[in-house]
Amino acid sequence: MVSERATRTTPFAAMDVLERANRMDDVVHLEVGEPDFDTPPAVTEAAVAALRAGETGYTSSKGKPELRAAISDYYDRRYGVDVAPERIVVTSGSSPALLLAFSTLVDPGDEVVLTDPHYACYPNFVRQTGGRISTVSLPADEGFRPQVSAFERAVDSETEALLLNSPANPTGAVLDGTTLEELVALADRADATVISDEVYHGLTYDGEDHTVLEYTDDAFVLDGFSKRFAMTGWRLGWLVAPPEYVGHVNRIAQNTLICAPNFVQSGGVAALESGDDFLADVRDTYRERRDFVVDAVEDWGMSLGYTPGGAYYLLVDVSHLPGDSFDAADFFLEDAGVAMTPGPDFGANAADSLRVSYANSEAQLREASDRIQRALERVELSAAD
Ligand SMILES: Cc1ncc(COP(=O)(O)O)c(C=O)c1O
Repeated sequence: MVSERATRTTPFAAMDVLERANRMDDVVHLEVGEPDFDTPPAVTEAAVAALRAGETGYTSSKGKPELRAAISDYYDRRYGVDVAPERIVVTSGSSPALLLAFSTLVDPGDEVVLTDPHYACYPNFVRQTGGRISTVSLPADEGFRPQVSAFERAVDSETEALLLNSPANPTGAVLDGTTLEELVALADRADATVISDEVYHGLTYDGEDHTVLEYTDDAFVLDGFSKRFAMTGWRLGWLVAPPEYVGHVNRIAQNTLICAPNFVQSGGVAALESGDDFLADVRDTYRERRDFVVDAVEDWGMSLGYTPGGAYYLLVDVSHLPGDSFDAADFFLEDAGVAMTPGPDFGANAADSLRVSYANSEAQLREASDRIQRALERVELSAAD
């Protein structure tokens, strides 16, 4: 019989929209969170050289020593924090790292606090471990800003884990260092553990990234190569665990994952050692696209009400259009040939919105914007008839 946890796992709407859009001709894709850049050539060359050199066997389940050293150096270089390689477990993308963190920390019935809106897959991760979801409301009319006071109402002695994500999917909101430090102190007072999803670090447009590890060693951090180095299909990420959890994480990793692909890990070393210029360039490009889309939303006659500071998403309120956000997504896909993701998967506060991903070229973003504007004009004209 199918398990309860399997039946309670909901589909990932962005992937559903993508599958539908892929069956259609001439669609501009603003639904998926996938960089449109190529992986830096030095990364590909390093992986191919590793393959040619026969690096095709299992590695240590924690990952190759040279990759864990490169990740440790990265924390030192980027944030000035000391993260011993022994605390790092390399994974096949940051998604398995999240599963490892939850598997190590959460027992059935334990409370996990998420923000609302949140990354669509988080509730399903919590369900895999039998955890109980509690949410911190970050309303649209407050620009989805993570306010400490909202977390204070949700995080208490019942809380096992507080999951943070900055820059955030789907809002693009960024936690500043002071807020992050206050949230760490709040979790500490409640004896809860912070799990920080830092997969969009590097893609922050108006300030600096802060890792939770600047403020505590007692947190899990998941991160990876997918977003900042345009390596989604390589499946490479990592988990930093608090020292007393590392052995437990590693036992689960040994049994369930064995290791991340050997030669892919060599690509990861090259990305961390030579990818700074690439990252600076793509960040500048995303910033220009962010500015373009923020202006375009005004042209669509919609008000964003906030400026997303990172990642490559924003939430646009479509409550004034007929029907719900699924109908709005259908309308823009069918009538305008523009794919966007309906909001409900990202939480109740995103239910009236569409998630727009600007991980697409400026030419495609312009085309999408023109199509959306024309489709909205057609609706207005037919309403006036
Ligand atoms: C917030 C967030 N975390 C984690 C992931 C998973 O990324 P990956 O497993 O490719 O590292 C994604 C992917 O879209 C994401 O948006």
